[in-house]
Amino acid sequence: MIEKLPGLDGVDEGTRGTAVNHRMREVTELVAGAGAGADTWDSSLVGEVRTLFDSLAPDWTATRDHPRRNAPVLDALDRGAVAGRTVLELGAGTCISARDLRDRFDCYVAADLSWGMLSHAVDGAPPLVCADGSSLPLADSMIDVLILQNMFLFAAEVDRCLADDGFVVWVNSRGPETPIHLSCEAVVASLESATGSSWRAVTSTVGEATWAVVRRESRNAAR
Ligand SMILES: C[S@@+](CC[C@H](N)C(=O)[O-])C[C@H]1O[C@@H](n2cnc3c(N)ncnc32)[C@H](O)[C@@H]1O
Repeated sequence: MIEKLPGLDGVDEGTRGTAVNHRMREVTELVAGAGAGADTWDSSLVGEVRTLFDSLAPDWTATRDHPRRNAPVLDALDRGAVAGRTVLELGAGTCISARDLRDRFDCYVAADLSWGMLSHAVDGAPPLVCADGSSLPLADSMIDVLILQNMFLFAAEVDRCLADDGFVVWVNSRGPETPIHLSCEAVVASLESATGSSWRAVTSTVGEATWAVVRRESRNAAR
């Protein structure tokens, strides 16, 4: 079930090219696709993605940050009624969200595949972990809130690490123009296909940004 909330006005980020035919869109859909596994996200693809984001890291904050940059994730947390103690922001990049997230949660950690991104993290970033979201160094069910902003969806690993009553916060800063974008429907479908469980979502927009807060309806008893 997907609940749509009214959209809010916001500042559009605008002008950094288009997602059409963007290689990262192709990878996003591959990774989220039903059955995507180790044979899809292989060492060659990991290397391609890491090399790309390492190369973008030095200019990431300067070209992405602006005063209203975190409005979509904050709106998702507020209107999505997200609560929890242990929060992982995965694919956090340079942690532009840290200034607005670090005081909201008791335990907030950021992880990214790209050491380049983490090494350019903003002042005040939370503890940083260099890790691959397809295989996280975490115990089962230990995350209350998983924040994915403009990041791939590794549905089986999300299911493993997320607490039974946990929240997935999905943000696309430029909505469908974001290269790493999935619709709310596609996020739910990917999670349901990978887990065999039912998931529900609440979704809205802030300017051009889209967000979804996704939770399990029930966990697959066979897990
Ligand atoms: C489009 S950037 C978004 C960065 C940040 N969330 C933002 O919105 O500013 C995608 C980030 O995901 C990271 N990433 C890609 N694949 C990953 C993986 N398998 N595990 C962890 N991080 C990954 C990249 O290195 C990059 O920093």
